[in-house]
Amino acid sequence: MKVNIKTDLITKISSDVITLGVDDKNQIINSSKLNRKTVSYLSNILALGDIPEKLGSAIVIHGDHFYPKVILIRIGNPKNLTSNQFYNVVLTIAEELKSLQFKTLLLPINQFINPSLSANVVAEYLVRGLIDASYVVNSLKTINKVKKNIFQTIIHYDGSDLKQVKNGVRHGEAVMEGGNLTKDLGNLPPNICTPKYLASIATKLGKEYKFKVSILDKKKIEKLRMGSFLSVAKGSREEPRFIIMEHIKGPKNQKPIVLVGKGITFDAGGISIKPSADMDEMKYDMGGAASVMGVMKTVGALNLPLNIIALIPSCENLPDGLAVKPGDIVTSMSGQTIEILNTDAEGRLILCDALTYAERYKPETVIDVATLTGACVIGLGHHATGLFSNYDPLASELEEAGIRALDKAWKMPLWDEYQPQLNSNFADMANIGGRAGGSITAACFLSRFAKKFNWAHLDIAGTAWKSGKEKGSTGRPVALLSQFLIKRSGK
Ligand code: BES
Ligand code: MN
Ligand code: ZN
Repeated sequence: MKVNIKTDLITKISSDVITLGVDDKNQIINSSKLNRKTVSYLSNILALGDIPEKLGSAIVIHGDHFYPKVILIRIGNPKNLTSNQFYNVVLTIAEELKSLQFKTLLLPINQFINPSLSANVVAEYLVRGLIDASYVVNSLKTINKVKKNIFQTIIHYDGSDLKQVKNGVRHGEAVMEGGNLTKDLGNLPPNICTPKYLASIATKLGKEYKFKVSILDKKKIEKLRMGSFLSVAKGSREEPRFIIMEHIKGPKNQKPIVLVGKGITFDAGGISIKPSADMDEMKYDMGGAASVMGVMKTVGALNLPLNIIALIPSCENLPDGLAVKPGDIVTSMSGQTIEILNTDAEGRLILCDALTYAERYKPETVIDVATLTGACVIGLGHHATGLFSNYDPLASELEEAGIRALDKAWKMPLWDEYQPQLNSNFADMANIGGRAGGSITAACFLSRFAKKFNWAHLDIAGTAWKSGKEKGSTGRPVALLSQFLIKRSGK
């Protein structure tokens, strides 16, 4: 989708489709700016009373040669429209567009702007919603392929915040470029999206946006003594990779923000094997890695003046004669020993070594992203990402970014009281803490490797993908993290 912003008189802009809001008095919002003939035609149609009063209800009608198709959508009192409601309105518009033939869509945005819904937010949500809803999976189907609708969106704006509108469009586009990469990677089958494949995409990103990428193979990972990470990789014929991306575009002395993404390209559970129902969904267990890569694409596209490092430990978790076994004790890069009581709790085992590796950057902040626990899905469902942090101001910052980006995270406790659940009789810690508070004890495990910096952990097990008929990656939490970084950059 191409986006153009136009500020000319709206009566001068013709378009295949125009979208107009209808208020609670059954009138076109801001109709005084439109051509009188158009307004009288539409008023007659509105008088027929076919648009339900419910906010977001829409109909498509045929107009004249200037606007051959018109989407009329119920906004209610535009002064009360909230950002969430507006985003849903955009998704409805996108849904209506799917059944239309057209090349240009005209969207006058002044009709939506009110004191609590700024021009900037309207522009950003509009672009994000339209791109998000028109995502088509790059599927391997050879028949019945869904064709992507290619069109141009003309945002019409008449006001003094043009710069903010432009910013909103730019940010919206960049967030979706990243989000779509995350979706593409997640949706790929695990026989294609392997650790090596993720590494190749990282290398490509580095070339495209001019940041440094290093790919560490098994030998180099061994040299680093990442015994915990390597123990997970042991059961697989696919070699592990440790991927490092360094976007150093901030002031030289500015300490970096490190993002860590769980890159398990398939999680069968290892010797503690998972039940086979829905096991295919464990291809999404690299969702943390995919979202970190997506964020790096957004950051690259916006060329954010920040120092950002991405670390991705990536491997498969499979059962095998050589696989790690329940009862095995491994030594992590930090030197701490871990008794592996359940090989299916592998995410924390690869992340802990990445967190230790992060220490060398003397980071300002470290954020890891992982499809870590089924318990998080039970606790928070599919709407909120689990948020854990050893530094409250960072947690608040992420919470706020999530709300602004419509990609919410909910803060969970990380209290010391939970730590003893990880006690082991034979090693410094066990890799599981029992059923009670499973997402919390997983975070507690990670916290033991994050003592040297401000750190947050995002458990995206419930938010990274959808199951059932709509099965597919959601691209979360690219919007949350991008918003966090955009805010940090002051842009
Ligand atoms: N990748 C899974 C977590 C997961 C499960 C994400 C379901 C999304 C949906 C993770 O590696 C895992 O298997 N965790 C175990 C931990 C347990 C053995 C302590 C879990 O949640 O069951
Ligand atoms: Mn697992
Ligand atoms: Zn896993």
